[in-house]
Amino acid sequence: MGFSVIKKTSKNYDYIVLLVEEDKIKDEDIKFFKNLTIENKKFIEHLIKKEKFTGKKNEILSAKYCDENIIYSIIFVGVGKKKFLSYDSLKNSIYSVIKNLKGNVLIESTDSSFIDIDMLGILVENANYNFNKYKSIDKNNKKETKKENKKLNLEYLNTKFNSETIEGVELGKITNIVRDLVNEPANFMTPEILAENALILGKDYGFQVEIHDESEIEKLNMTAFLSVGRASVNRPRLIVMKYTGNNSSKNAIGLVGKGLCYDAGGLSIKSTGNMLTMKSDMTGAATVIGVMCALAKMNINKNVVSVIAACENVIGGNAYKPGDIIYTMAGKSVEITNTDAEGRLTLADAITYTLKNNKISEIIDIATLTGAVIVALGESITGVFTNTYSNFEKLKNAGDKWGEKYWNMPMDDEFKDMIKSCIADIKNSAGSFGGPSTGAKFLEEFIENKPWMHLDIAGTSFRDVDGKYYKKGATGEVLKTLYTYIKGE
Ligand code: BES
Ligand code: MN
Ligand code: ZN
Repeated sequence: MGFSVIKKTSKNYDYIVLLVEEDKIKDEDIKFFKNLTIENKKFIEHLIKKEKFTGKKNEILSAKYCDENIIYSIIFVGVGKKKFLSYDSLKNSIYSVIKNLKGNVLIESTDSSFIDIDMLGILVENANYNFNKYKSIDKNNKKETKKENKKLNLEYLNTKFNSETIEGVELGKITNIVRDLVNEPANFMTPEILAENALILGKDYGFQVEIHDESEIEKLNMTAFLSVGRASVNRPRLIVMKYTGNNSSKNAIGLVGKGLCYDAGGLSIKSTGNMLTMKSDMTGAATVIGVMCALAKMNINKNVVSVIAACENVIGGNAYKPGDIIYTMAGKSVEITNTDAEGRLTLADAITYTLKNNKISEIIDIATLTGAVIVALGESITGVFTNTYSNFEKLKNAGDKWGEKYWNMPMDDEFKDMIKSCIADIKNSAGSFGGPSTGAKFLEEFIENKPWMHLDIAGTSFRDVDGKYYKKGATGEVLKTLYTYIKGE
């Protein structure tokens, strides 16, 4: 079940989906019509006229006809005028139809430029994703449940396509692994369990995974990281993953993912409403695990080291407090002005660890760092902060292949001034003004002038309501972009 490119149609399809350009529907060369009897052709032409279907963007026309005792269901999907077609509009038109389809479906088009094989792979994986493992099966209504579980199997006929793996399908599957890790509630996704998941995926996909427990983290002097995780009974883990796709180089790209398995805010506690989705504060971690899977799966010839400082930010008698001063692994002192600005503390030590133990050519951190980035950019654009603008441009281009959006955010020195502290080297929170940028400036203190990008994914990682291409919950976005960026073209 999923998406595949086939060389020959061999089954009766539950549906045939035909993508049509606006006002082109009447053309004789619509491939599909060739298979019809004269009567059925007339019937469909009549229906198109009667319904005034012209193929406008997202316009849908469903028809059924019978031929030699087989009932055929066809769905015409308008993609609008070709000159106005964008990646997003095409993806949207196709998803609006296939999200409601189950069973065997053939997709065809009057114009091959409407078919992007990787896009179809991703869309089918998205459409088939459900996080319903905690819902009891309704035993009295077995038939209904079975129907609901039926998946979409989409096929596209192309005799010229020869590749065995479809990148879009593989990335779609790994996106779903990332979504599973994030959607899992915090009581079932502790730092220890996250680490176990990384180990299992490392074995399955082929990358190395080391787990460090608390005593080892202490020996490493990662005090900022430990301070954040101190109050939780679910103890911290440091997860280190290595993928070596290029043996002739000693250099590696460093990825650091924010791994807050839960963020209650600590003593600067969040409101219930703001806490409700904070199981997703380890999306950066899940994303870097996913990137490692993707690089290994596709045998990419690059070296990548990924580091996750996994812990929980909760309250307790031994919790770190506003007003505390703590030392980072790099030796900088930090005044804690808000225990809810915890991600940057864990990331600072994870970045230092990465740079200290590896030959790093560039470093990228991925973090649900600030609520303020959601205020600024909404839920469809990831904020990027960098000291190397050309890398941002490459990232943005990589995102364009998948319709994932990025915006370069300010890194001016005024924001650095804002995190100065009177009694320590820096403070962890400068309040709400310029929140995403002061967060980024804090991280910049630890990147030792290496080319660096910080991706604030607080807005793009998780949805409370159904999104354009996903059901609500984790989106799994950014994984595809990062994979494509690292792969290079
Ligand atoms: N994990 C949150 C950021 C977040 C908010 C992610 C909403 C996803 C959705 C982060 O640790 C946090 O609490 N940030 C603070 C920073 C502030 C104290 C400087 C915030 O955004 O309020
Ligand atoms: Mn927080
Ligand atoms: Zn957080």
